[in-house]
Amino acid sequence: MILDKHYWTQRYQQDDTPWQLSHASAPLKHVISQIEDKNCSILIPGAGNSRDASYLLQQGFTNVHILDFAEPALESLQQQIESDEITLHLEDFFDHEGSYDFILEQTFFCALESRFRESYPKKCHDLLKSDGAIKGVLFQFESDRTEPPYGGNAEEYRRLFSPFFEIKSMENCEISEPDRRGRELLIHFLKK
Ligand SMILES: C[S@@+](CC[C@H](N)C(=O)[O-])C[C@H]1O[C@@H](n2cnc3c(N)ncnc32)[C@H](O)[C@@H]1O
Repeated sequence: MILDKHYWTQRYQQDDTPWQLSHASAPLKHVISQIEDKNCSILIPGAGNSRDASYLLQQGFTNVHILDFAEPALESLQQQIESDEITLHLEDFFDHEGSYDFILEQTFFCALESRFRESYPKKCHDLLKSDGAIKGVLFQFESDRTEPPYGGNAEEYRRLFSPFFEIKSMENCEISEPDRRGRELLIHFLKK
């Protein structure tokens, strides 16, 4: 299965978006509450049209970047936020250039084909400032699924991320959304 921008665009066009929440997710709200500097630069890759962007705006963050390569998702997000205070990047994550304090991860890594799993940590490393970090959630469940979301576990994530990041914390997420309860790890990976 090729998970390119046509695949994801079609999913939005067909309203086949079971991952979409009607609100900012509890784990991301928690992660966001830990960020003190409202002017820090934040990237949410593979953000779709999630409510996390507008939540960041409501919380007073001024330097928010949302990236996705599915045009309908970003069009819908643009209507939702009605603000030019967020920078939207209609682009493939792996082509993106930038420099951020934080990358917020939620349901993006699990959407990548396995061949991109190795590339994601290095790309995040390249996109972060010297003391930057990835915060958010990664799925933990074993699966042999042939389509996303793909699962994973702490051991795999440690192997993939530790060459580029200090694993500050990776623990069972106690505040997941109901349908994700027991299936998420709350992560804080600090750039090495
Ligand atoms: C499962 S959805 C999750 C969306 C969002 N994180 C949320 O919680 O609603 C995965 C998203 O990643 C985007 N995506 C997948 N691969 C991408 C890539 N290489 N570059 C940019 N966006 C990508 C898809 O278009 C889709 O919006």
